[in-house]
Amino acid sequence: MTAPTLLQLTSSLFSTDGQSSRLAQEFVDEWRVANPGANVIARDVARSPVPHLDAARFGAFLAKPESRTLEQRSVIAFSDELIDELRRADVIVLGLPMYNFGVPSTLKAYFDHVARAGETFRYTEKGVVGLLTGKKAYVFATRGGKYAGTGLDLETGFVRQFLAFIGIEDVEFIYAEGLATGDATRQGALNTAREAIARLATPQSWPLAA
Ligand SMILES: Cc1cc2nc3c(=O)[nH]c(=O)nc-3n(C[C@H](O)[C@H](O)[C@H](O)COP(=O)(O)O)c2cc1C
Repeated sequence: MTAPTLLQLTSSLFSTDGQSSRLAQEFVDEWRVANPGANVIARDVARSPVPHLDAARFGAFLAKPESRTLEQRSVIAFSDELIDELRRADVIVLGLPMYNFGVPSTLKAYFDHVARAGETFRYTEKGVVGLLTGKKAYVFATRGGKYAGTGLDLETGFVRQFLAFIGIEDVEFIYAEGLATGDATRQGALNTAREAIARLATPQSWPLAA
């Protein structure tokens, strides 16, 4: 049995100092203790931003491999690198702040570079099939206000939908909400998130079922 691999995705504009990043890091630290020998890949889209998807970059995705220009080949190589990290991961840990009611634009740019027909999803007669199956994702969602479980939480549905689209259907959201609404609420929210971390960062059996 090979050692599991965890991909740690950081998207806070404060990079590793973000509250979402710190909770995700606490999870990763505990998970590593529970799963000795595991590999961790770190991808920080605040520190190393992914460019916006524009017509030229999307054109590279559509071009046939044999007719790609040099520039298109470098776009594909970058997208391939991001997808390869996801493919190698058994577990994905995402630090997810809410900015202006949605995901950080850096994370959206990342999503736009890993949604590639034939690589991470496939069109079939029965609809879209996600290709990155057999993975588990933990999402550490931090917010200044409170939205979870209400119609105002546009972020959770979007992230869940996107991950399912590329085949990642086993997704656990851990929320720390109301972080801007006073010290007591903030502390309570962080304590609840930490209890979830202690509960979830346990030894896992591999491989996960596809
Ligand atoms: C630019 C910006 C926009 C924000 N927009 C929202 C928002 O729409 N709703 C909300 O509840 N909190 C909002 N917040 C608060 C963040 O969600 C909160 O501070 C969260 O902990 C940020 O995570 P981070 O520290 O990992 O970056 C915003 C914060 C920033 C910096």
